[in-house]
Amino acid sequence: MSAPDLDQIQSGALADVAAAGSLADLESVRVAHTGRRSPLATVLAGIGGLPPEQRGTVGKAANLARRAVEEALAARTAELEAEELGAALERDTTDVTLPGDPHPLGALHPITQVRQEMEDILLALGYRIADGPEIETEWHVFTALNTPAGHPSRSPSDTFFVGGRPDRLLRTQTSPVQVREMQASEPPIYLVAPGAVYRRDDIDATHSPMFHQMEGLAVDEGLTMAHLKGTMLHFFRELLGSEREILLQPHFFPFTEPSVDVQVSYTDKNGRPGWLELAGAGMVDPNVLAHAGIDSERYTGFAFGCGLDRIAMIRFGVPDLRLFFENDLRFLEQFA
Ligand code: DAH
Repeated sequence: MSAPDLDQIQSGALADVAAAGSLADLESVRVAHTGRRSPLATVLAGIGGLPPEQRGTVGKAANLARRAVEEALAARTAELEAEELGAALERDTTDVTLPGDPHPLGALHPITQVRQEMEDILLALGYRIADGPEIETEWHVFTALNTPAGHPSRSPSDTFFVGGRPDRLLRTQTSPVQVREMQASEPPIYLVAPGAVYRRDDIDATHSPMFHQMEGLAVDEGLTMAHLKGTMLHFFRELLGSEREILLQPHFFPFTEPSVDVQVSYTDKNGRPGWLELAGAGMVDPNVLAHAGIDSERYTGFAFGCGLDRIAMIRFGVPDLRLFFENDLRFLEQFA
């Protein structure tokens, strides 16, 4: 094998490598020029059969040619890989170097914020959170709570009855959760039950057919009005400020005896002091304990209920209840 033959083999191979337009083409070129049946392999295999004086020169030349072809293959492989990656990136219109779309962060609704604060104050006193259905029975909402037939709140003009059935209605208060929980558990019971309630009220700045209440119930041995008052004082001071005072005013609720309105001190814009009526409360009527299967000789209890939305209005200085339910982000974002 003469040197010019090897030159030809090498330049033919280098030309094919340079002409390969894709990695797949280049692979065929590699097999054709460096594979077992390639002219170069034939030359290398034939070296042993050459006259001894030619072996060294031909062997050296053939190895140089092989190295040149392998280097050219490696260089072209790198080039074609870069080109194919570039083409793939161009096809894909995603620019991975651009900043991502910002995902707006949500925040808790002001009513939820106040609810959680109220829950936390009572959880810290050892109360637990209880839940009850919004579609209730007349028995749970009224009868078991000592509210006699013919009471105005039982009338369809005040209450939403569901599907025209007299025994299914949207609860008008969270108090039925007291009944369900007393039926389901034994004293000592300390619970707080927040949730939505429904009444046939026209919508205005302070009324909505749907609003929120939070019920509290404590049933244990030896509970008195003093425990109720201490709990209310602590609750409202934690919620609205340690300078608050409370006043219990006689009132009437069917399910408590005696019953009170809980008034909380405040100072108006002009610095004048006054009282806000923020909760109803009282000692659980023995009839209510009995209806729920609790021994009213052994246990006494106190209960309280307040409007969450009204407290949120005071807490955040919001003058119109409707703002809470219209879900206008420009309003809600102020509490985020
Ligand atoms: N359920 C009453 C209402 O809707 C509020 C209330 C008053 C709840 C006295 C109580 C309570 O637990 O003891 O007006």
